[in-house]
Amino acid sequence: MSAKCFVKILLIEVLVILGWGKVFADTPDSALLAVENRNGLYFKWSVDGEQWHTINHCFLTSDYGPWGSHKKMHDPVLTREDGRWKCVFRADENVYGRTVSPDLIHWKPQDYYIDRDAKKDLSSYTDTFEVDWQTIDNLMKTAQLSAYKRLLYDEQAKDDAVRFAGLQPVKATMTVDTGKPKKISDKLIGVFFEDINYAADGGLYAELLQNRDFEYSPKDRREWNSTTAWTIDTRHSRHEIKIDTLNPLHPNNPHHVVLESGQTLVNEGFDGIAIKQGDKYDFSMFAKAEKPGRIAVKLIDNKGNAASNEVSIKIGAENWKKYEAVLTARQTATNAKLQVAVSPLPDNVIGGAGWEVRCDLFSLFPQKTFKDRKNGLRADLAQAIADLKPRFVRFPGGCLAHGNGIENIYRWKESIGKLEERKPDFNIWGYHQTKGLGYFEYFQFCEDIGAEPLPILAAGVPCQNSRKGKNGLAGQQGGIPLEEMEAYIQDILDLIEWANGDKSTTWGKLRAQAGHPEPFNLKYIGIGNEDLISEVFKERFEMIFKAIEEKHPEITVVGTTGPFYEGSDYDEGWRFATELGVPMVDEHYYVSPAWMIYNAAFYDKYDRKKPKVYLGEYAAHLPGRPNNLETALAEALHLCNVERNADIVLMTSYAPLLAKEGHTQWNPDLIYFNNTEVKPTVGYWVQKLFGNNAGEEYIPATVEMATDNAKARARFAHSIVRDIKTGDYIVKLVNLLPVETAVEFHDFDFGDAPVEKTVLTGDPADKTAKPTTVKEKIQNNNVVLPAYSFTVLRVKNKYE
Ligand code: AHR
Repeated sequence: MSAKCFVKILLIEVLVILGWGKVFADTPDSALLAVENRNGLYFKWSVDGEQWHTINHCFLTSDYGPWGSHKKMHDPVLTREDGRWKCVFRADENVYGRTVSPDLIHWKPQDYYIDRDAKKDLSSYTDTFEVDWQTIDNLMKTAQLSAYKRLLYDEQAKDDAVRFAGLQPVKATMTVDTGKPKKISDKLIGVFFEDINYAADGGLYAELLQNRDFEYSPKDRREWNSTTAWTIDTRHSRHEIKIDTLNPLHPNNPHHVVLESGQTLVNEGFDGIAIKQGDKYDFSMFAKAEKPGRIAVKLIDNKGNAASNEVSIKIGAENWKKYEAVLTARQTATNAKLQVAVSPLPDNVIGGAGWEVRCDLFSLFPQKTFKDRKNGLRADLAQAIADLKPRFVRFPGGCLAHGNGIENIYRWKESIGKLEERKPDFNIWGYHQTKGLGYFEYFQFCEDIGAEPLPILAAGVPCQNSRKGKNGLAGQQGGIPLEEMEAYIQDILDLIEWANGDKSTTWGKLRAQAGHPEPFNLKYIGIGNEDLISEVFKERFEMIFKAIEEKHPEITVVGTTGPFYEGSDYDEGWRFATELGVPMVDEHYYVSPAWMIYNAAFYDKYDRKKPKVYLGEYAAHLPGRPNNLETALAEALHLCNVERNADIVLMTSYAPLLAKEGHTQWNPDLIYFNNTEVKPTVGYWVQKLFGNNAGEEYIPATVEMATDNAKARARFAHSIVRDIKTGDYIVKLVNLLPVETAVEFHDFDFGDAPVEKTVLTGDPADKTAKPTTVKEKIQNNNVVLPAYSFTVLRVKNKYE
């Protein structure tokens, strides 16, 4: 020790002995508290009113309106009434947010109102409060804990070399108790399908034409209109594409094209049309013309050469009529187009010069769709989803389900029936939804892959991030007016009849007419999507919930607890759902891999008597949002911990599911694709391994790891389940360490026969890692887990 250091320590000791330390360390009984606004509520405190200390933590932010332009907090004012704190702030011109808290730390979800005089009132409030020291202490501890958690949750594998410098391969022993199986959910792994990232139109929905019905509009995207994706060959005739709305095909489909002889209309598809030589494509269109005439249809390549046979269609009806043809591809191409030509024939021939024809709803489908369904799904993408063995499919969102504003709420009735009668709408993710992939197609897909349908319907409120609505409020926009709620609730009850009623019922009949006489056997309905749990929400949710409960007690209603794993919507969502007796709630959280590592016990702590959990949206997010081995292993680790708790967490779905390259609004996703390729991610393999290795019984085991390093211990997870149909035991092991972990099993017999061993491993940053499976005999009950790996051992029917 240096002399300087020694003197310093001595001095401190002397001061402490003399009582200096005591004087200054004495805790004040009370202090002054004031608000600091940094587009969020911060606090500062002072003992003497002169020296102020800021607590560097944001205790409340505005949740008003869309991200980007809103979420603003101006002039927050704090008051204390009846032992509760109340905060009122200006969220926008004349729009105020208000919320209350018992302790300044836990705030209730916000409510918003328009008040043109509020400013006057707010200015009279006091801005400092005398509070007991405990209040200040609690605020500081909250700030400290949050900073500590941030440090933990920011840990990334890229720093493991330093974090785990000197760590040797780890040994672990696992003692298994096969005698104490716990019953767990048989629906744990499902999929979350949302029309985001061009997942539906241009994606899973196999329609090859874009803007097939001329209904694109600037509401979808500023630069879009009825002619988007269409061009006209101007050599022979009028230059512009003429769009009309006179006597439309259907009021839900108001625009159509008016073509005249000599014109050639071309659709470019979604980034081109991918065709395969020899494959057949179903073409259809609606048309009408005052005089009969002919239209020629074919596929062309990027040089304008024929890429299919040409079909000549005689248009002979004065009223809208559907015309169909089959095109066979003569070549394989990724960027073909559809050409519709109106022949420039002489006047005395039908369809001659000056001939006009009105056309709408062009369509081109590969005949090879998933399960060969008409108006079907892209076979390769649908198969990739089916391969996950999902036990349920959630649809149609996500945010898409509750929409950007009340008018944009997804109405299931607008998505069924004839295509020309469906109501297209803008897509909250910045494009267009045809609803060609609608409720019938979703239910059909579920049936085709043996998954339960899980439709999510808005809880009478749109997305809390919605833009300003008619009533001047953004966000939930005040919700569907109460006088319209009865009709809205009836729509939901009608959905149950449509799905489950026999064909003699009003809605069951429609399902039967659409080609499905047997009921779909709907069991679950989700109400709401990670909503703000405001008074507006609660009032409407309760009305819907009670109506379903009364009329259809057989349906499990899934409620919602906000977009995070903590905070005001989570707390209030849980409180509200518990009080109401909602059987299951939908939790969402996108978190760092380290959150998953350090929250292994998240569900262990859940009250078993409260509603069950559907973890409806989750994923591990790293800076830059890759889907790589690190994120995938974190998800595997989390799923092991969830599987242990699958007595209360009954369903899970990674989100989002699909993303088209070049049209992605959200990363990471589970499956990327373009028009010809399907590109599963590393996370996909984890989901697939869980989906294909599910069990109905959880087998408890205790693990001892021979290391004092708590961060190392946190990076190991296990789960053992038993598939009661096959009798197989399935052991899942995650090692998120940069070194091997050797696990010695006790009280577990792997048997003499080789077990099926699947390992996913590699560099944490690897975005292409894939699992490999071998048959291997387990020697001496020892399993060595490679660094950064997920191992699944399937032990065949051992104890039968
Ligand atoms: O999964 C993408 C989006 O994330 C969902 O639409 C929404 O529910 C969540 O915020």
